Amino acid sequence: MAWIAYLSALVAIGIFVRSLIARREDSKLSHIPLVKFDENDTQERYITSTRDILHQGYLKYGKHGQAFRMRNPVDGGHSQVIMAKSYLDEVKNASESRLSFPLYSIQSFLLKYSRSVLPSPIAAHVTRIDLNKNLGELVAPMREECIDTFKTVIPECKDWAPLKLWDVFLPMISRMTGRMLVGEELCRNPEWIQLTIANTQGIMKSSMGIRALYSSRWQWLAPWTYPGRKDLVTLRRRAAELIEPVYMQRLAAFRGGTQHKYRDAVQWIIENSPEKPLSPAEVADALLFLYMAGIHSTSATIVSIVYDLIAHPEYVPALLDEIRHTLAESPEWSRQSLAKLRKLDSFMKESQRLNPVGCVTVQRSTVRPYTFADGLHLPANTFLSFPTYEFTHDAETYPNPDEFDGLRFHRMREEGDATKFHFATVSNDSTNFGAGFHACPGRFFVAHELKIILTELLMKFELVFAEGTRRPPDHCHDFTIMPNMQAEVRVREKQSFGI
Ligand code: HEM
Repeated sequence: MAWIAYLSALVAIGIFVRSLIARREDSKLSHIPLVKFDENDTQERYITSTRDILHQGYLKYGKHGQAFRMRNPVDGGHSQVIMAKSYLDEVKNASESRLSFPLYSIQSFLLKYSRSVLPSPIAAHVTRIDLNKNLGELVAPMREECIDTFKTVIPECKDWAPLKLWDVFLPMISRMTGRMLVGEELCRNPEWIQLTIANTQGIMKSSMGIRALYSSRWQWLAPWTYPGRKDLVTLRRRAAELIEPVYMQRLAAFRGGTQHKYRDAVQWIIENSPEKPLSPAEVADALLFLYMAGIHSTSATIVSIVYDLIAHPEYVPALLDEIRHTLAESPEWSRQSLAKLRKLDSFMKESQRLNPVGCVTVQRSTVRPYTFADGLHLPANTFLSFPTYEFTHDAETYPNPDEFDGLRFHRMREEGDATKFHFATVSNDSTNFGAGFHACPGRFFVAHELKIILTELLMKFELVFAEGTRRPPDHCHDFTIMPNMQAEVRVREKQSFGI
């Protein structure tokens, strides 16, 4: 029985030490103004009405260059700091060892406690460098996956048929993104698709489950005691089994000097680590991390854009005209011809401005105490983020901010700087893809992917909302914004090819 006493003593010491170094002490943030609900200031309201409190704080402080703090409902109610735009350049320039995005992701989604995949530097690197270098060659393969998925998920529909957009676009995005991650064969494998989707859902479920069962002081016990602690490990193990044959065959070919030009992340990972190849399990984790970063965010974005297309049919003739005109000049879609779809690009950006996937971005965690140039001090392990939703709904930057103006960014390009205001452009006024070194490296790929889908959709199908319905409202939960996944629309094949 001595071991039980020994173990109990160890646990007790662990708890004591842990409580001493409690991660976020609100008292250390008391110099930053707190924004809270005047009435009914419950934890629940910070989940259901997050946008309201963010708006209050922005009007009172953020807009005037001041940071504020508000309760973080998913972090035991500790404070999180919402920054003013004036701090953005400093955050962009701060080194990783001081303000960290990976640390934020680990702490915010409890990735270590749920035994999930962790942010992968090699995966981010191949996306930033190799994917972007190969975008032109990926247009045709992506189109192939898009057309094939349309055929599978929208069977012949000469007459109006019901359709749930989420059910179409989640598998389509998984396949199109998967084509550049794992190649032709695996990206179509139903078990692989299901597993990559389940991984993201599992991470969300585990972080919520752990938070529901453990207060932040006790979460470190989750890897040994949380009932679902094996879920993500089992899933990762299966992913490694599925990727192993593809990876080992590619690795052997690479070592043997066979000149095969695969254009996907598996290949780029091999080429980027020639001396010390990763194990299949490490490759699987890197890929799952990319699927996690890219699938649900892109699916939500395309669903919102298509809702906007249905809600604003007045734009369709101009968009089709642009497609016709571009295809008349070069009949095959390419990187160059997709770049000519400026009106469509503008429509996509306006849709993302009004219906983004989250109301804050550029989320960071302070690795150690950090003092900004103006003296604002944040203790170590403070969550900070920028209220992108407020920036993109501020009338001083975007006149008539609540109005959907599909050609807003097209005009801004024509009247101002033609190199700015693209869907994938990030700037201090456009932070939906983040900012600085960590700004989403997949955003140029996303712009191509969405244009490929939308041109196909506009040319071949007509869509309307189900009778008596309008654009379904977004679903907001904490800082996340998702389009309605359940609403049905109606679809019909075009009689002529629309071109
Ligand atoms: C519409 C779809 C997407 C949106 C809205 C989006 C948004 C974002 C945002 C806001 C960040 C954090 C940036 C920051 O904090 O500064 C990010 C990071 C990242 N995204 Fe995306 N993303 C999308 C699609 C994708 C896709 C398709 C991929 C690749 C498969 C991808 C790969 C990544 C990676 C690897 C990071 C981490 C970069 C790093 O740590 O340096 N994303 N994304």
